[in-house]
Amino acid sequence: NKEVMEEIIFHQGDIRDEKFLKKVFLKSLNNGYQIDGVIHFAGLKSVEESIKKPLIYWENNVLGTLNLLKILNLKKCKAFIFSSSATVYGTKNKSPISEDSNTKPINPYGETNLTIEKILESFYKSEETSISISNLRYFNPIGAHNSFRIGENPRGIPNNLFPYLCKVASGQINELKIFGNDWSTRDGTCIRDYIHVMDLADGHIKALDHLMTNDSQLINLNIGTGQGYSVLDLIKTFENINNVKVPFIFSDRRKGDVCKLVANNQRAKKILNWYPKRSIEDMCRDG
Ligand code: UFG
Repeated sequence: NKEVMEEIIFHQGDIRDEKFLKKVFLKSLNNGYQIDGVIHFAGLKSVEESIKKPLIYWENNVLGTLNLLKILNLKKCKAFIFSSSATVYGTKNKSPISEDSNTKPINPYGETNLTIEKILESFYKSEETSISISNLRYFNPIGAHNSFRIGENPRGIPNNLFPYLCKVASGQINELKIFGNDWSTRDGTCIRDYIHVMDLADGHIKALDHLMTNDSQLINLNIGTGQGYSVLDLIKTFENINNVKVPFIFSDRRKGDVCKLVANNQRAKKILNWYPKRSIEDMCRDG
């Protein structure tokens, strides 16, 4: 809607604060806009931190979502998109993983995501609402907007491969540790489905359009490219495209890692008419 796009209103607050959420919806109504679609990104997302501090994960992720659902139900919101993740699948499925694969998260972060998906399912099935819901299960989003004006630059030492690699490339950290070179893959390093953040963003827009224009439904969608790259593939591509060196050493496997995690993304392609367009080179350059 052009009218809405001309003005973006920003409210900063905490999802655990019900009163704040209520205010956001009310203010919007008072300004003449009904909020009829919500994209819920307000989650904590570090696997490691969730093992150390599980309670803040349950509180922020699950309680926060409950708060949001209560308000949006009251205000008759039509579409809800949840940033879920491939962690809901656990480690036992064979890649490429379809949405109907077993779910069995192995850490508190993944458990909060799966719990939220379950809450959303029972909410969707209740008579209280006719809302449409999509759980977008992200694989490994990396890269940045190609204006280079916004990107990922976490405080402290990153846990994830790509931000770590960027800090090594820029000289802030001496070397990258590759967690294991004895996996049963082509080069012995783990394989992941890396997806450009802008393709991920497009997936949200397509999902929102789909939910707003179709009958009430609940859909789980894998958001990945369907292609797997090893840690070494990623490092080499990054070095070539950016003309930099990324010193690395091999170290022990990291607890909880899986050998290969790649999406079957046929459902998102078919239902949303969404096709990831950016290559691994684009991800490495833009990042
Ligand atoms: N890796 C290294 N060195 C590092 C960091 C990572 O070798 O310093 C390796 C890991 O062993 C793994 C790969 O790089 O093989 C990717 O690791 P990430 O930590 O970047 O990502 P994960 O696949 O472990 O996890 C990501 C997100 C989670 C999400 C999950 C979905 O971080 O939030 O994908 O399965 F839930």
